Amino acid sequence: MCGIFGCVLKQGNAAPVIHASLKRLEYRGYDSVGIATISNSEIHVKKDQGKIDDVHKILNLDDLPGTIGIGHTRWATHGAPLKVNAHPHTDCTEQIAVVHNGIIENFSELKFELENRGHVFRSKTDTEVVAHLIEESFKRNPSLSLVDAVLDAVKKIDGSYALAVVSAKEPDKIVCARNESPLVIGVGEDAVYCASDIPAFLPVTNRAVFVNNGELVILSPEGYEIRKIQDASMVTREPKVIDWTPEMAVKQGYPHFMIKEIHEQPETLRNTLRFQEHYLDLISTFLDRAREVFLVACGTSYHACLAASYMFSKLAFLATYPVMASEFIEQHGKSVNIDSTILAVSQSGETADTLAAVTCSQQRAATILGLTNTIGSTLTRVSRVYIGQQSGPEIGVAATKTFTSQLSVLAQLALRLSKKRGKISQDEMDMLEEKLETLPETVETIIMTQEEKVKQIAHKYRDAKIFFFLGRGISTATAYEGRLKLMEIAYVPAIAFPAGESKHGPISLIEEGFPVVFICPRDGCYKTLIGNIMEMKARGASIIAIIEEGDEEIKALANDYVEVPRGIPEVLSPIPFVIPLQLLAYYMALERGHNPDTPRNLAKSVTVK
Ligand code: F6R
Repeated sequence: MCGIFGCVLKQGNAAPVIHASLKRLEYRGYDSVGIATISNSEIHVKKDQGKIDDVHKILNLDDLPGTIGIGHTRWATHGAPLKVNAHPHTDCTEQIAVVHNGIIENFSELKFELENRGHVFRSKTDTEVVAHLIEESFKRNPSLSLVDAVLDAVKKIDGSYALAVVSAKEPDKIVCARNESPLVIGVGEDAVYCASDIPAFLPVTNRAVFVNNGELVILSPEGYEIRKIQDASMVTREPKVIDWTPEMAVKQGYPHFMIKEIHEQPETLRNTLRFQEHYLDLISTFLDRAREVFLVACGTSYHACLAASYMFSKLAFLATYPVMASEFIEQHGKSVNIDSTILAVSQSGETADTLAAVTCSQQRAATILGLTNTIGSTLTRVSRVYIGQQSGPEIGVAATKTFTSQLSVLAQLALRLSKKRGKISQDEMDMLEEKLETLPETVETIIMTQEEKVKQIAHKYRDAKIFFFLGRGISTATAYEGRLKLMEIAYVPAIAFPAGESKHGPISLIEEGFPVVFICPRDGCYKTLIGNIMEMKARGASIIAIIEEGDEEIKALANDYVEVPRGIPEVLSPIPFVIPLQLLAYYMALERGHNPDTPRNLAKSVTVK
């Protein structure tokens, strides 16, 4: 997730407007920033790695000439957060500048072709291919318009994009295009703007035109013009008046970041399915050769590791050991060695306990692999190979979208390893890959159809003193995560166990009306889990079941239930089944009068041991 912005002013200086707007988009990414303006048919660029304020102090981002320009605030997905990878990216002649939010999946092939035609690339980004593709179109046909050259380029790219392009050849316009990544036009009295999101221009205009997938927009001093990418036909669309306050706009109209991020999961899950091939291959090769594999993480990331240990075992027949990072050194510090492989999972890539476990293992010559949301973080620097989960910045303190993205990447790794080892049939592999592809829609359906129901459940149990979360098999990880979310956001004490363990002690807590949440996918544990539900019910527990749609057997036992679509394979089930639990924590926090975005005593990144 990055932020793009562009403006065409009738008069004045574009650079300060772009700078101010990028500040308002900084929540979308903040590892590098850049601006390109046009004046006297020349493109002027300033860019660098670092936060906007820090870069501005050194470069003075306002000091660029021209009434037209584009800008970018970056959250690295490909290519480290370095100056050379900061946007805008230019072509060989520096006549074309491009900013981009999204992921171009076929960039390696395109780059290879363009390099063979003599193009010289400066960055490691996928975006730079767009500038060279446009340059190539002009080379072939110098009389082409910028619009036609951009149309040519976007027809060649696969993946997601919101693009804004300027060219010194046509210094009076910006051409934008959209596929999947957000893009919105702002229409002012004396200016038009394009941006990833409304807050970018809200202080200067509240008239917005939403750009649809497959559309291209031309911004000029005359206003805006929308065309379809497919056939360049014109589209007429009037601006809508946005009545959000700037604070609401940053949250896209949601009251809190947490709920915004829960709703973003279909998109973030889609992003995990792009662009990972090479890294999946590399990491699965290391895992394949490893003598022993530790999955090391804290909190929510640890729950992703726990789920992953079931995935690796069931799909690739690889035994892995999920370990809470804060315990790793005590538990394994003496035995870890050159034959050990550590897969460290950390959204921030900066969690002190995780890094301490990594350092200890590194000193003992173990192989370090990383999975993180923060390219450029310490974890990416100390890992032999790392993979980016591509969730974009998560602002709510509680991990939500980053958890499901971790699960998706880990499932893909397990599948890749399984393929290498020939452990499951081609039919099963095809089915799992297909299900992974459709998970974003599944999650969308759950949010759309079940949110209201979860809200009612939260209302019903708002005064509960304690909650139980139970699941079997891989759903144990889901139960742990449901418990953690409820405790940290709504401050409700909660207990989670593998359901089979409950009768070895915890069941003694149960009395009339005690809320017990059961995670109930129809997997190999289903029948036994029904037994556990009955045990609890017989002792007066109130059963809240997360079930597959149409599961009449559990519906008949449960006091309340939430349904997720049917037919989700066991190894992928934590992704859809955790969604109702995230919503439950969120609405319980609201019911109890707490701000879910800023739970007390917690920090987004825990950099002390
Ligand atoms: C819970 C939560 C924390 C983090 C944990 C690890 O909602 O966010 O439990 O998961 O502090 O953080 P990372 O993944 O950044 O290492």
